[in-house]
Amino acid sequence: MTPKKRTSFFEYRTPVGDGEIRAYADLLDQAFPQVFQLQDLETWLGREEPEGFRAAIQNGRLAGTTMIVKCGQWFGGRQVPMGGIRGVATAPHARGKGAARFLMERSLHELHDAEIPIASLYPATHTLYRRAGYELAGDHIGYRIDLHRIPRIKDRLEIEPIDPADSSIMKSAYDARAKRTNGQLARTGFFWLRVNEQKLKMSRAFRIVGKNGKTEGYFAFVPKEEHGGPAGLQMRDLVFNSRDAARTALGFFSDQRSMNEFVWFSGAPTEPIEIVLGEHGLKTDWRTHWMLRIVDVAGALEARGYSTGVEGEIHFDITDDLLPWNNGRFVLHVEKGRATVRAGGRGRLTIDVRGLASLYSGFLAADDLEVAGLLTGSAREMAAATALFCGPRPWMVDWF
Ligand SMILES: CC(C)(COP(=O)(O)OP(=O)(O)OC[C@H]1O[C@@H](n2cnc3c(N)ncnc32)[C@H](O)[C@@H]1OP(=O)(O)O)[C@@H](O)C(=O)NCCC(=O)NCCS
Repeated sequence: MTPKKRTSFFEYRTPVGDGEIRAYADLLDQAFPQVFQLQDLETWLGREEPEGFRAAIQNGRLAGTTMIVKCGQWFGGRQVPMGGIRGVATAPHARGKGAARFLMERSLHELHDAEIPIASLYPATHTLYRRAGYELAGDHIGYRIDLHRIPRIKDRLEIEPIDPADSSIMKSAYDARAKRTNGQLARTGFFWLRVNEQKLKMSRAFRIVGKNGKTEGYFAFVPKEEHGGPAGLQMRDLVFNSRDAARTALGFFSDQRSMNEFVWFSGAPTEPIEIVLGEHGLKTDWRTHWMLRIVDVAGALEARGYSTGVEGEIHFDITDDLLPWNNGRFVLHVEKGRATVRAGGRGRLTIDVRGLASLYSGFLAADDLEVAGLLTGSAREMAAATALFCGPRPWMVDWF
């Protein structure tokens, strides 16, 4: 007989003292040996945010881990406070007993108490996170461009080397681009450190100088070597805010072709560089999804921005099995790019909180959610929902 899962067995807290921190790091090392490099605990701790470490303790021993990185995510031109969930792991001997589920539930309550209305994560398994109310909400895509396919590019903008450790130059160009997406992070220092270095290897960084002297784009990269295969440039970040900046970046990459065969970067699901590049130059190397959890329906809907080109009202009837405050009827009113939410209304659009996550980010339109079984409503109400949440397809460059 399968033992019943009892999440009440666990205590939720931050690990304390050298012994618990070491056990915490050791558990992560066992769960993610390719990602966490813990030969040097002090260096690793220096790169992490230990105040976000959370543990499930059972009978005084560490059973599970998660890490919460507080940041923000851009939706509709506004930064929505977001809790990034990472490092979800259960000790090999303690699996299958509800430790991960417990950590997911408690972290959502913690974010709610901190008035953070959404949470995001990259899932190794969908089931665990769907049980906690997360749903697919955006893309993380790796592209590859064969350097020999880049056409000859004349009339480029200037390029200048910059210090990758000084994110101030990159930040304004990054924010200008991220603001016009759905899903990109509002980066904190933790994420800029990751642009700056990968596995302790420093990036090389360059800015693209616009005709007015302003930074019109930038890129930071490390060498990418494939075992026994060709060498390339792996972009830690590639941002361009104009066609000229995109062409200039492509020209720079092409100039590196004597020792490199490709450039690899993470970009948008509908990638503008493909239009600049021309003939079949862009190849999707890999694609995965991130998931989103609406922690607080009213807070999340009011925090994001909306297109100023649409106005309207949706009468939601929402079901959430885990977070009771999200259940019931809500009226979303959108006008001039901002929303107000009030409890009540007619409940014309019935939606699971998971479906709301995919709708909220712009990942799925109401018709797709209806087909997936996460929403029901009249054709008119569904059309209104699709129109209000319509925007650039959601994506995220940062991996956490
Ligand atoms: C994935 C992992 C965290 C699950 O931990 P756990 O404590 O055994 O999970 P729980 O017992 O709390 O299970 C919660 C739910 O998730 C499901 N689940 C757990 N692991 C799963 C897996 N690998 N695949 C699919 N579903 C899984 C369970 O079936 C359960 O659902 P149920 O209650 O409907 O049966 C654990 O296997 C682990 O540490 N793996 C290695 C690291 C990893 O992959 N982490 C996830 C990174 S995003």
